[in-house]
Amino acid sequence: MLGLLPLFGSAQQSPSQNKEKYRPEIHFTPESKWMNDPNGMVYYKGKYHLFYQYYPDGTIWGPMHWAHATSKDLVHWDRLPVALYPDSLGLIFSGSAVVDSLNTSGFGKDGKSPLVAIFTHHNMKGEQAKRIDFQNQSIAYSLDEGNTWTKYSGNPVLKNPGIVDFRDPKVSWFPEQKKWIMTLATKDRITFYSSLNLKEWRKESEFGEALGAHGGVWECPDLFPLSLNGKQYYVLLISINPGAPNGGSGTQYFIGSFDGNKFTPLQKETRWIDYGTDNYAGVTWSNTGSRKLFIGWMNNWIYANQVPTEAWRGATTLPRELKLYSDKNGISLRTEPAKELALLEKTTVNLPKHVTGSVKILNKTPLTGPYKLQLQTDRMSSFALTLSNNALNKLIVGYDKASDRFYIDRRAAGDNAFNKEFAKVHYAPRISKSKTINLTVYVDVASVELFADDGLSVMTDVFFPEQPLGLISINSPAAFKLKEFKYTPLKSIW
Ligand code: FRU
Repeated sequence: MLGLLPLFGSAQQSPSQNKEKYRPEIHFTPESKWMNDPNGMVYYKGKYHLFYQYYPDGTIWGPMHWAHATSKDLVHWDRLPVALYPDSLGLIFSGSAVVDSLNTSGFGKDGKSPLVAIFTHHNMKGEQAKRIDFQNQSIAYSLDEGNTWTKYSGNPVLKNPGIVDFRDPKVSWFPEQKKWIMTLATKDRITFYSSLNLKEWRKESEFGEALGAHGGVWECPDLFPLSLNGKQYYVLLISINPGAPNGGSGTQYFIGSFDGNKFTPLQKETRWIDYGTDNYAGVTWSNTGSRKLFIGWMNNWIYANQVPTEAWRGATTLPRELKLYSDKNGISLRTEPAKELALLEKTTVNLPKHVTGSVKILNKTPLTGPYKLQLQTDRMSSFALTLSNNALNKLIVGYDKASDRFYIDRRAAGDNAFNKEFAKVHYAPRISKSKTINLTVYVDVASVELFADDGLSVMTDVFFPEQPLGLISINSPAAFKLKEFKYTPLKSIW
């Protein structure tokens, strides 16, 4: 066993309203009440806008609004008043927002470009009356940088053709044909629509009825270009609930081409953006140029309404950047923590590199704040990082060489009595064929995010410990040396 290191500084003080039990310190949460999917993510005039599914009157899912927050750096957030309220056409379900810089919609005024939000109106009365056409797409615009919104008098702009699940429009500009493309979840497939003015839409094509995972309904899609070695590809994200690899909600993806009419995938097999159970309904920001920035809802519909937080329920994942990667298995999506997270870093400390059995890195004075761990092996060996506390809660993040899988074991990580599906071990296949493994792990008060092999295998899991998991040890069945092992305490975002 190696010596203990006196490494850990004191946690930054945060305003008291962000200090409740389980309150994340480096993740966005609403100050109070329920949140689910991120919506309307658009970058405009130096600010990242984040709208999200919100129920202002309760901490369980209820009549949906779009709440609003903005950030100048993707990391620190200002919580703003609710942007869109339910109306006679229905509740405000998920959707997207764009900057209409050519004023195709005509909503612009005095040279000001409108921000246009495209969302699903969900009509509760229609649902209760067992109609099938209760979800329709509508728009709203803002001429004051997202502060206030006016719903279009001609709503809905895309009427339901008789499909019960007809929702979550993600709209983007298709420059080659100077038109808008709407990527819409339509039950068990994606339907693409196009428009010249965001008000009139025509159907282009469908994708996926016979491809991908179909263990549940398709929701919250996204379609965006990404380049690799000078060639452009299109990535299609599709959230599905249930049917994710470790149960419940998850997000699959396809890489292919898109010609303004049709998406053609390069591969047939199902791939997942994140193998943890707590990254759902994630999509990318619009208007960020070639950088594709992603955030998801850090939760799972299996237990989202039961997680043991009190003032609020729901959080986002850390902001991430999506990139392409190619090897002999073809082209894959990889996910990096957004580089802006470096703004939170305190001084990095090197940790002991010899792993001989179980090595306690820290077991006297637990860390009190969030932190990042980075590790690189010198060869392939099984290993496990145990993050624990003096209340005997422990979370294990590891790699198992025999099955070539990463895993997160949250069975003993704290309160798990609220849902019998919660206390489980989750697995992610290793995608990389490299002879060494690198891991970056972000640990917050109630979540862990694992980016393995430069983000080719990703896992996001929430957990609810009695105290922060501020004790760290690493163990392995065989002695080996790490090329790199370091720890960086992180400042709270609040
Ligand atoms: C996904 C989802 C969306 C829907 C929204 C309702 O989590 O079910 O399909 O628009 O949540 O809040």
